[in-house]
Amino acid sequence: MGDSAAEDGRRTFESVCATCHGLDGRGGQRGPDIATRAEAQQLSDEETLRVLRTGKPVAGMPAFDSLGTPKISAVVAYLRVLQGGGKASPILGDAQRGKLLFFGKARCANCHMIGGSGGFIGADLSSYASNASAQEIRVAITDPNKDLEPRERTVLVTTREGRQFTGIARNEDNFSLQLQSVDGTFHLFSKKDLKHFEYLSESLMPSDYGSVLSATELDDLVSYLVHAARAAKKAQASATKSELEKEED
Ligand code: HEC
Ligand code: HEC
Repeated sequence: MGDSAAEDGRRTFESVCATCHGLDGRGGQRGPDIATRAEAQQLSDEETLRVLRTGKPVAGMPAFDSLGTPKISAVVAYLRVLQGGGKASPILGDAQRGKLLFFGKARCANCHMIGGSGGFIGADLSSYASNASAQEIRVAITDPNKDLEPRERTVLVTTREGRQFTGIARNEDNFSLQLQSVDGTFHLFSKKDLKHFEYLSESLMPSDYGSVLSATELDDLVSYLVHAARAAKKAQASATKSELEKEED
C-alpha cells in the first residue's frame, strides 16, 4: 500500500468511523472497540470487508458500500495499523484444537461452561472474549491469582468431625456458610458446626497453565474463546431477529 493510500485510509477512518469507534478505534458511546478487542482483531480482511460493505444495521453499524472498494480497502489497512500490527490476524491459534483442549486435556470444562456444556464453579465463558484483548485472555488463563476478587477466592472448610471441603463461598452470613465445591454441589454449613474455615489467597483455578500448556496450546485456547464469543453473539442476533419477526406477525 502506497503512502497516499495509507493517508486516504486514515482520513476516511477519522471522518467516517471515528464518531462511533473513536479516533484510536478503541470504542465510543455508539460503537465497540475495534482496535484492541481480540474478537475484532481476529476478523480476516475478507470478513472485515464484508462487515463494512453490508453493515450490521440492527446492531447500529451502517453499511459503507457507497464508499467504493478502494476507500474501503484503505480503511481496512488503516484499521490494521490501529490494531498494532499492520497485518491481519495477530492471533495464531486454532479454535478447533482449542476446543479439544478446553473439553479435554486442559480440563477447563470441569469448571467452566461454554455454549451450554461444562461445569458451574467458574464463570460461563461463552461471551468472555467479546470484551477482552488476546493478551488479557492469555493472562486470565496463566495468572488466575492476578486481580482475584474476594468472592472468587477459594474457601477451605473443616467441620468438627474433621471433614474438609474446598470450593467457593456463594453465601455467607453471621451464622452460616454456603459453599459450592468443584463438582458443582452446594453444601450449607452452620458456622457453629465448623472447626475452622478460611479464605485462601488463591483462586480455585490451577495457576500452572503457563507451564503445563505450550505457547501454541495457549494460542489455541485464546482462539477458541474468541470463536465462542463470536458464535454466542451470532446466536443472540438471530434470536433477536426471530423475536422481531414474531412481533410482526
Ligand atoms: C453509527 C456508528 C458507527 C459507524 C459510523 C461505524 N461503525 Fe463500525 N460498528 C458500529 C457498531 C454499533 C458495531 C457493533 C455491531 C455488532 O454488535 O455486531 C460496529 C462493528 C464494527 C466492526 C465489527 C467488529 C466485530 O467485532 O465484529 C468493524 C470491523 C467496524 N465496525 C468497523 C467500522 C469502520 C472501519 C467504520 C468506518 C468506515 C465504521 N465501523 C463505522 C457502529 C458504527
Ligand atoms: C478447578 C476449576 C477451574 C479450572 C480447571 C479452570 N478454571 Fe478458569 N476459573 C476458575 C475460577 C474459580 C475462576 C475465578 C472466578 C470466575 O471468574 O469464574 C476462573 C477464572 C477464569 C477466567 C476469568 C473469568 C472472568 O470472568 O474474569 C478465565 C478466562 C478462565 N478461568 C479460563 C479458564 C481456562 C481456559 C481453563 C482451562 C485451560 C480454566 N479456566 C480452568 C476455575 C477453574
